[in-house]
Amino acid sequence: MRFGFRYGSAVDHAAALDRLRTLPRVTLAPLPTPLQRLDRFSEAIGAEVWCKRDDIGSPALAGNKVRKYELVLASALAAGADTLITTGATQSNSARTGAAAAARLGMRCVLLLTGEAPADRTANLLLDSLLGAEVRFAGAVGWQELGPLLERCAADQRAAGRRPFIAPVGASSARGALGFALAYLELLAQLDAIGPAFATSTVAVVHTTTSGGTHAGLVVGRALAARGPRVIGIDAGRVLADPAEGLARLAGAAAAELEADITFNAADIDVRLEHAGPAYGAITGEAVAAIRLLARTEGIVCDPVYSGKGLAGLVAMARDGAFTEGPVVFWHTGGWHAVFDPHYGDALL
Ligand SMILES: Cc1ncc(COP(=O)(O)O)c(C=O)c1O
Repeated sequence: MRFGFRYGSAVDHAAALDRLRTLPRVTLAPLPTPLQRLDRFSEAIGAEVWCKRDDIGSPALAGNKVRKYELVLASALAAGADTLITTGATQSNSARTGAAAAARLGMRCVLLLTGEAPADRTANLLLDSLLGAEVRFAGAVGWQELGPLLERCAADQRAAGRRPFIAPVGASSARGALGFALAYLELLAQLDAIGPAFATSTVAVVHTTTSGGTHAGLVVGRALAARGPRVIGIDAGRVLADPAEGLARLAGAAAAELEADITFNAADIDVRLEHAGPAYGAITGEAVAAIRLLARTEGIVCDPVYSGKGLAGLVAMARDGAFTEGPVVFWHTGGWHAVFDPHYGDALL
């Protein structure tokens, strides 16, 4: 990758970094999240693993979506919105986070979830209602078909005298992704604090990707800093038709929000597709094994839909010798709520 040349230097990007640091934000997350060495897990897999604990926080406001909503909802409030409309799968972490963030900011929230209303409301779906969101079900529609349905939902809200704001799947707008550009800078500061050369010797940051805001933001943060560990995304189910292409496009749009002179091509994006299993939401044996190992060595819980697949990717890469040169950071994106949905939780036992 033409890193450091094509992306310019930190000096070249000073203005964009300033813009990034001064973007309007609401405060939803207890930042910085801890960066923690996983001693027993590292020993078990034969690689030095550190964990970026975005899974920590109140149950309603934990996980990777919180950083995105800090920016997305600041934009919504600036636009005068009083109602958040967002979407996702039935057990969407992003939808639940949106519901919690809206409650915290005194906004109404309407969630349009894919699938049919289940008989029992568990895990995130239970929280959605507890948090006061109006939950609607769109039936068996694909992610790509949600756009018009969200627009219709917004029209209903306007007709009722409200001022709606639509956040896309995963809150992965260009603005939302910038929450993870800030997060990359947060990580760099933590790596620097461990030791003078620690950020340089750390090989990679591994995380789970689906709608792409996390990955796009991290690569923008790295490009602006012009240093730091490379970013590896483990795809959890082909939500994007062409993940590398889609991630490059989103990263470019996020950089453009900062007027940063950076372009991204699919070839710049390191996204691994081989750990997703047959489909989004399908439980894989390697994810179950990785989840059990982390739980039993460190007392940290991942889920089989998202973070467990990212963890399985990291374990597989470690066993292939990818992290013999230095430490690796596992970015825990949260999602543990799913273990309280019997459909997923029972598979882990
Ligand atoms: C727990 C968890 N991890 C990772 C992801 C993927 O993040 P992104 O949508 O930014 O690609 C999600 C998305 O919903 C998630 O809920």
